[in-house]
Amino acid sequence: MVSSLFTPFRLGPLTLRNRSIRSAAFEGMAPGHLVSDDLIEYHRAVSEGGVGMTTVAYAAVSQSGLSFDHQLWLRREAVPGLRRLTNAVHSEGAAAAIQIGHCGLMAKKSVSGGQCFAPSGRFNLYGPTWPITMKKDAWMKPALKYFGNLLMKPEPFSEGYFLEDALKVREVVKLHLIYVGGLVSLEKIEEVLGKGFEFVQIARALINDPAFINKLRSGEITRSACKHSNYCIAVMYSDKMRCYQKEVDLPEKWKRKLGG
Ligand SMILES: Cc1cc2nc3c(=O)[nH]c(=O)nc-3n(C[C@H](O)[C@H](O)[C@H](O)COP(=O)(O)O)c2cc1C
Ligand code: SF4
Repeated sequence: MVSSLFTPFRLGPLTLRNRSIRSAAFEGMAPGHLVSDDLIEYHRAVSEGGVGMTTVAYAAVSQSGLSFDHQLWLRREAVPGLRRLTNAVHSEGAAAAIQIGHCGLMAKKSVSGGQCFAPSGRFNLYGPTWPITMKKDAWMKPALKYFGNLLMKPEPFSEGYFLEDALKVREVVKLHLIYVGGLVSLEKIEEVLGKGFEFVQIARALINDPAFINKLRSGEITRSACKHSNYCIAVMYSDKMRCYQKEVDLPEKWKRKLGG
């Protein structure tokens, strides 16, 4: 029997070939705030790898909404690159989406072009970007370094970690819903779809392997090799998002540490 993951779904005028969506996960592949060949290749590869739809992440709606040098800024000059990206995704049979946003207090003055716009100037623990509205931040960097673990408790990974809460939303919302959070196996994906979510979104399993969906389909794997190290998140702040398992220069000692 074909897994529910691989059944198509009609969404308004669009039919997605299956229920998987590459979640918005900042790629850090837009130097000069424009689409790069790397960004196109990543999304083409995820599409070739079987997702129903991919999502380009964290595109700023205006210069004041930028927080990184390598972040996409939606403006006229970005259109040709976006068109190339969309064509590449379509040619692999997937649909393309984009996450648009404004980073608020996460703005970085050197790239956002001036004072940031945010509802408040409070420190954002999601950091490590520093809100430029903070005046006395000199003492906070070392404070975070030494006491950060007390402020933010490490949370062990558990598969489908948002499912319990998401089900409360599923119960009362009649619209189509996408579940996201900790999907690394076909078994869990099928459980989530079986509980009434129309789609599943996946970030890290697709950073680990853009062909994750097709490999589940062929039976080559039943589970992602992602070790939930979050190395991909740490690097994306200053460089291209990537999985530690693909690093050639990372010492084996570090790889072992990250692999838990
Ligand atoms: C490297 C990385 C970058 C991310 N960047 C974004 C982002 O730009 N926007 C966003 O809404 N979520 C972002 N996320 C969160 C993911 O979209 C997703 O919700 C989260 O990783 C949980 O899904 P997962 O367990 O399948 O990884 C990012 C996650 C990762 C790993
Ligand atoms: S870097 Fe870590 S969390 Fe990110 S995809 Fe690789 S194993 Fe998973």
